[in-house]
Amino acid sequence: MGMRHFIDLSRLAAEDLRAMLLAAHRRKAQRAGLPKGAPDSDRPLDGRLLAMIFEKNSTRTRASFDVAMRQLGGGSAMYNAADLQLGRGESVADTARVLSLFVDAVMIRANAHALVEDFAAHASVPVLNGLTDKSHPCQILADVMTYEERVGPLAGAHLAWIGDGNNVLASLLHAAPKLGFALRICTPPGFRPAEADLALADGAYTMIDDPAEAASGADCLLTDTWVSMGDRDVEARKAAFAPYQITQTLMDKAKPHAIFLHCLPAHRGEEVTAEVIDGPRSAVFDAAENRLHAQKAALLWCFYLLGSA
Ligand code: CP
Ligand code: NVA
Repeated sequence: MGMRHFIDLSRLAAEDLRAMLLAAHRRKAQRAGLPKGAPDSDRPLDGRLLAMIFEKNSTRTRASFDVAMRQLGGGSAMYNAADLQLGRGESVADTARVLSLFVDAVMIRANAHALVEDFAAHASVPVLNGLTDKSHPCQILADVMTYEERVGPLAGAHLAWIGDGNNVLASLLHAAPKLGFALRICTPPGFRPAEADLALADGAYTMIDDPAEAASGADCLLTDTWVSMGDRDVEARKAAFAPYQITQTLMDKAKPHAIFLHCLPAHRGEEVTAEVIDGPRSAVFDAAENRLHAQKAALLWCFYLLGSA
C-alpha cells in the first residue's frame, strides 16, 4: 500500500472523499454526549503520534488536530517552525526524515505550498496540509460536512463564494467536481482564483461579477477574510473588497434554507456583517466544531483505517 498524504482534495478519489464524510458524520454521532477528553470507544489510533508544524498562527487547526488525535486514542506534539532547526536553514528533506523517525504522521501549516510537497516527498509517514498559501483542504472537508448536516445533499447544490479568490476557495473548487455541487464565484477583478484551481473544478463553476446575482437562489453563501496571512496589500484589498461584503440583504437573496459559512477568524464589519455571522443562518461555529470530526476521518484515511470508522 502506498503512502497516503492529505495535501489537496483534488488528488482524492471521489469515493474516498465521500467515505471520509460518512465516517466524520458517523463518528460525530457515535460520541455524542461524551466528555471532550474521552476517547472514541474503538481508539483506532492507539499508540500513534502526530507532529504538527506551524509556520503561521492557528487556533482551530491546532486545537482540533490535537483533540482529534487524543479522541482517536493517540497523541500529538506541536512545533513552531521557527523553533526547529528548519528555522535556521536545516533542509525540509532532513527535517522530514528525522521527524518520520519519531512520529506516525505530520501535519504542516506552511507559508508555501511547496514546503508541504517537499516534506511529503521525503517523509516516510503520512503528511497532512493544515493550510498553505494555495489551499486549505481540512477547512473545506469540515465545510461540506456542515452543509450536509445543516442543509442536505451536496449533489446539485449551488454554493456561492463572494470575496477573495484565496486558498480556501481553491480547496472548494477542488471539492466541487468530486461531490457534485456547482460553485458561483464572485471576486473583484484581480482577485480571481488561479487558473490551475479553476481547471481542477472540471467546469463545476461559473464566474459572476455581481454579488447580488451570485447570491440569488444560492443554497449557501461563503466568504473569508479580505487579508489572508501573508497578504501585504491591506488597504488596497479593503478598498477592492468593500462591495463584496456579505450583508443581510445578500443573505435574503439566497434560498430560505441557505446557510452562511466562513472558515474563521472573521472580521465583523469587513467581509461579513455581525448580523449575518451571528445570525440564525450562520453555520460558522458548526463548521469550526466539524473541523475535529472531519480531520479524524482524514487521519484515519491516511492510516488506511477509514473502514474501521
Ligand atoms: N479556519 C482555520 O483554519 O482556523 P485557524 O487559522 O485558527 O486554524
Ligand atoms: N485565507 C485565510 C484562512 C485562515 C484560516 C488565510 O490564509 O489566512
